Amino acid sequence: MAPTTATVTPTSQAHEKTLGERYVVHKKDRAKVGHKDFSDDIPVISLAGIDEDYPGGRREEILKKIVSACEEWGVFQVVDHGIRDELFAQMFELSRQFFALPDEYKLRYKMTQGKKGGFTVSSHFPDEAVANWRELMLFMERPIEGRDYSQWPDKPEGWRPIIDEYGVKLAEVSGKLYELLSEGLCLERDALTKTLGEIHGHLVVNHYPKCPQPDLAVGLKRHTDPSSMTMLLQDQVGGLQATKDDAKTWVTVRPIKNALVVNLGDHLYYMSNGRYKRADHQAIVNGEQNRMSIALFFHGENDAEVYPLNIKDGEKPLLEEPITYAEMKKRHNTLYLERIKIAKLAE
Ligand code: SIN
Ligand code: FE2
Repeated sequence: MAPTTATVTPTSQAHEKTLGERYVVHKKDRAKVGHKDFSDDIPVISLAGIDEDYPGGRREEILKKIVSACEEWGVFQVVDHGIRDELFAQMFELSRQFFALPDEYKLRYKMTQGKKGGFTVSSHFPDEAVANWRELMLFMERPIEGRDYSQWPDKPEGWRPIIDEYGVKLAEVSGKLYELLSEGLCLERDALTKTLGEIHGHLVVNHYPKCPQPDLAVGLKRHTDPSSMTMLLQDQVGGLQATKDDAKTWVTVRPIKNALVVNLGDHLYYMSNGRYKRADHQAIVNGEQNRMSIALFFHGENDAEVYPLNIKDGEKPLLEEPITYAEMKKRHNTLYLERIKIAKLAE
């Protein structure tokens, strides 16, 4: 059966001359800065020597840099993280092979299945008034026991061990970052992870095909991640943009081969009582090249508490009372859906 309009991916529309109406975003939501106008404002931090844990050692220096990047931006890039380069190349290659499969195959994996341990492939969220110019696949990275392999695609072959290694390596790096961020809040090193409980991971691979009218569309609308920390790998094309000062400034994050972009999400923002910013970001598209990014979202358990872990004298807590991560995510999604529907009505 031929897919209906709503189930065709932008990949299969990339050769069209004009953009379908469902991808045209409101003027105020269009890119303000070009996809190749790279900025060097977002800190790039070397993790070499992160285990040198003594006064004046590299760990102390890295801690200061990361805390200041989080206070200013909520986003930074890490290099010298110790992960082998070929692993990144393999992740990109397997993702490329997957997205090259026909829509009929890819779209068998319905939205929401990924959350249940299965696999999602989609080009849109069901409630979106204007669709993103992207195709995504989403699946549970951890806990591994939560995966439902019967719902995973059989192609391309051989990617489970690569995904497993990728998840383990990134979780190791993020574990070290959680420790530094706890200390940055003058707390014990395990304070953040204790509150989060068992760390869950969802992996999303984003594919943004080259776009016939890139100025009218976006790859992924402006948002913050509800997770606590997202580690993002992007290819060399460019398109990730972050804001500062309530979107007064937009910058395009410079792609650095095999660097990981670390985005702080809503949960960490609340746990730090807003001292750490949450990355306010979007992905834009271009007319020349396909782009790919791979995001691993680390988040706490559904009943993990969302509330500031320490509140300085004279400071007001950002939340009236503690809520659960599940409740926080619900509020986050409601606001996001409201915003994207309003974006359509305002046209
Ligand atoms: C994301 O926000 O999950 C992806 C951003 C990007 O594609 O760079
Ligand atoms: Fe994001």
